[in-house]
Formats: sequence, structure tokens, C-alpha cells
Amino acid sequence: MNIRLASGKEIPVEMHKVRIVQKVNLPPVGERLRALEEGGYNTFLLRTRDIFLDMLTDSGVNAMSDNQLAGMMVADDAYAGGESYYRLAAAVEDVLGYKYVLPVHQGRAAEHLIDKVFLKSEQVVPTNYHFTTTRAHIEILGGIMLEIYADEALNTRSVHPFKGNIDINKLKEVIKKYGRERIAYVRMEATTNLLGGQPFSLENMRQVRRICHEHKLLFVLDGSLISENAYLIKQREEGYENKSVAEIVKEMCSLADVYYMSARKNASVRGGLIATNNERYYLQLRDWLPVYEGFLTYGGMSVKEVEAMAIGLREMTAYDVAGCSVQQVKYFVERLLKNDVPVVTPPGGLACHLDAKLFLPHIPQSQYPAGALSAAVYLAAGIRTMERGTISTDRDKDGKEIMADLELTRIAVPRRVYTVSHIEYAVDRITWLYKHRDLVKGLKFVAEPPVLRFFFGRLASVDNWGKTLCDGFKKELGDY
Ligand SMILES: Cc1ncc(COP(=O)(O)O)c(C=O)c1O
Repeated sequence: MNIRLASGKEIPVEMHKVRIVQKVNLPPVGERLRALEEGGYNTFLLRTRDIFLDMLTDSGVNAMSDNQLAGMMVADDAYAGGESYYRLAAAVEDVLGYKYVLPVHQGRAAEHLIDKVFLKSEQVVPTNYHFTTTRAHIEILGGIMLEIYADEALNTRSVHPFKGNIDINKLKEVIKKYGRERIAYVRMEATTNLLGGQPFSLENMRQVRRICHEHKLLFVLDGSLISENAYLIKQREEGYENKSVAEIVKEMCSLADVYYMSARKNASVRGGLIATNNERYYLQLRDWLPVYEGFLTYGGMSVKEVEAMAIGLREMTAYDVAGCSVQQVKYFVERLLKNDVPVVTPPGGLACHLDAKLFLPHIPQSQYPAGALSAAVYLAAGIRTMERGTISTDRDKDGKEIMADLELTRIAVPRRVYTVSHIEYAVDRITWLYKHRDLVKGLKFVAEPPVLRFFFGRLASVDNWGKTLCDGFKKELGDY
């Protein structure tokens, strides 16, 4: 909850108390350089022992509630017909409003099944913006993602409240150009991850729904970050200020034909699901579930996680749970803005995003500014972040580099994990880095996988800048 102190300063007060802790280690700057070099300047290849604040992602790393942990103890581990599944189905019906649910091991497994059933080669998928795994699954099957975001979406300085909206005119043009047969489905992603956690409005979603209905197009909602999108609608969209997050989530779900989510985020577990009210779609998807995931009542998940997912879904719409990361992100963004550090505005869900093109304007996109910034933040702070730019965009079929629309360094804020003092520390070190940005140079690949290269790719620093940056840090701030 945002509380205004007597001094006038606002802070996101944590609406939970910590009852289990995990020790973290802040390695000295020399150790960080060694770890980063061993990891090929790729933050995915760092080990936990070398990381102070792990802000790589908000996926599968959120704090679980006491009730979720308790639920895991009473999970039913039957292979088929387990009661945990029925408790999940009841939660899905109550919270999301869908009759049918298929658990899957995580969000990309849902994408795999949805594309297997609904996408044919050469078909297109219009969307507000791609997510890495979403695009990979569509392209593997010969499909094409068409991003039809509003122009505001790529302007990181814009404070448009709904940069995750679909541009309705672009959607109409796509339908005119490709016709119904060539469109597999229309996809909307809540709190659009790669646009910097930006939400769409319900007004926009209703318009998309209307058009899909008119043209008999399937409408798919990626709700991996649905409760944050709903929370931001409550804060920003006229007419929704008095609705609860739960009511807004239900309304969003009522507009989509097929819903899927990575439950690793909002539901704070390791799993995912697909849900629908359409029996035919459900049966089509269900037939493939045991082939790729597992039997319907566990879908490749541990049953402990199925049970915890049922509880996590019910908890994710509570105002303070839906808003816990959003409020910390807002605080983080506003503190950095005060220090003139270029960040994506307005603050969205899941993460604070540095605009690496503005932070490091001297690094050409061909030398991966967002990757370099992610490496530099680790060196300057021991904080692990994630590159969301050209490294995260695979080459085209001819091996040509595709320059990403945005070069973002994503500093994720896992839910109920870090405190305001952690964020203050991050702000301080990132501001120091901004003042010394000239020390940071680009990166080049030394080993590059053909698909989703950001996971395992290894890079090296141009002119050995990692050492120069660490020497500069040591001179001013010492080892820490
Ligand atoms: C919007 C969105 N869709 C899909 C996925 C894929 O989910 P998972 O990582 O659980 O496979 C993610 C993961 O971050 C995501 O943010």
C-alpha cells in the first residue's frame, strides 16, 4: 500500500510480514567481474551464489503465501482424478469465470498447445506485442506474428496510460489484408511484458472483442500478468475506480475465447494453465495434453503446485497482492527519474525498465546496448537483470540481425520478495552507473545459439570495458 509519510514522501509499505528468509550474498566487485566473465557476459549464466539481488525475472521466484505452503501439504497426488485439480477448476471458475481448465507445466507449454491446435503454417497472429516464447512457438509452426501496437507504445518517454493497447485501425487493416482464413487468432497480452510491463484498457479490449466477434475470429488472452493489468485499469481507466481488481479480472476474462497464463507470475507458483468456456476448444486441446504435458488432472505440474496454484489464483486479485509489485515499480521508476536516469514511463507492472538506447547512446544497436547495460548493472551492484532488446530477438531466416524496437534492461521486481531498502540500494548504484556510463562499451557474441539465443549465448566485452568499469567502481566506492 502506498503510504504518505509526514514528510510528504510516499513509500510502498509492504502489506505482509516476512516469516521465512533466504540469506543473500553481496560479492565484492572483483568477484562480480570474475563471475560475469565466466558467464560470458550473459546474466542467465550467473550462479545464485554470485548474485545479491536477483531481479532477472518475476517468474517462479515470487514469495508464496502461508496459505499456499499449507495447501501443498494436503495436495492429492493421484495420477488421475486428483482432488487438487478439482480445487483448481473451482478457483478458475470463481476467479476467471471459465468452466474448463487444463493445467500445463508453464506458460510456454500453453502456447505450444494453443498453436498446435489453432495455428496452421502461413497463418498470422495479430497481437499487441510479442513475447519471446510466444513468437518462437508461432514461428516454429510456420506462422507469423503481426504486432499492431499503438504508436505510443515504443516511445519510452510517453506517459500514455495504456501503451499495451491494440491499434484498432491496424487490426482492421490486417483483417482486410489477410482475411479470416489466414488469421489463426488475435492475441492480447496483459501488462505487455516486452513493452515494459504496459497495460491495455478494458475499452480497447472490448473493441478488439467486438471486431473478433464480427469477423468470427478467435480471441486469445495471455493473462500471465492479468492482476497487474486489472490493478492498473482500476487506477487509470475512467469508470473503474470503484470496481475491485477481482471484478476487473472477471470482466477481462469474459471477453476472451481462450485464456492462458504462466502461473509463475501472478499466482506465485511454478505452472500454467489454459481455460475456456468453449467445450469444443477444450476437447481439442485436452486430446493433446497427455502427449506433451501429462494427464488432465496434473498437466505436467507437481500436484503440490496445482494445489498452490488454486490458492494463488484466489489470492492474486486481492488489492495489495495485485499491487505489491506495481507499487514498488512505481517507487523505483520515480526515484530513478528524479536522478535523470532514462526509464520506461509510465511505471507499469513486473519491472522497472532502463532505456538502454538513452542510457548508453554511444553504443550502436549492433553491439547490444541493453545486454551491455544488464552486464554493467551486475558489475556495479551485484544485481541480476535481463536484456530485453536485440539479443532477445533472434536473427531472421537468412541469418540477418533484427534490431529490436526497444533496447530495455529489465529490472524485475518479484512479488513480496524485496524491500524498499533493496530498491534504494539499486537506485543508488544505477545512478552511479549512469554518471559513469562512458566507461561502458558494447558486447559481441562468441557463441550464439540458433533459437532464443539470449538464454545460452556467450558474449565478450568490447575493449575489455568490464575491467575498466570495475576499476572505476573500486576507486570511488571500494569493494562494495
Ligand atoms: C506474457 C508472457 N507470456 C508467456 C510467458 C511464458 O511463460 P513461462 O515462462 O511460464 O513459460 C511469459 C513468461 O515470462 C510472459 O511474460
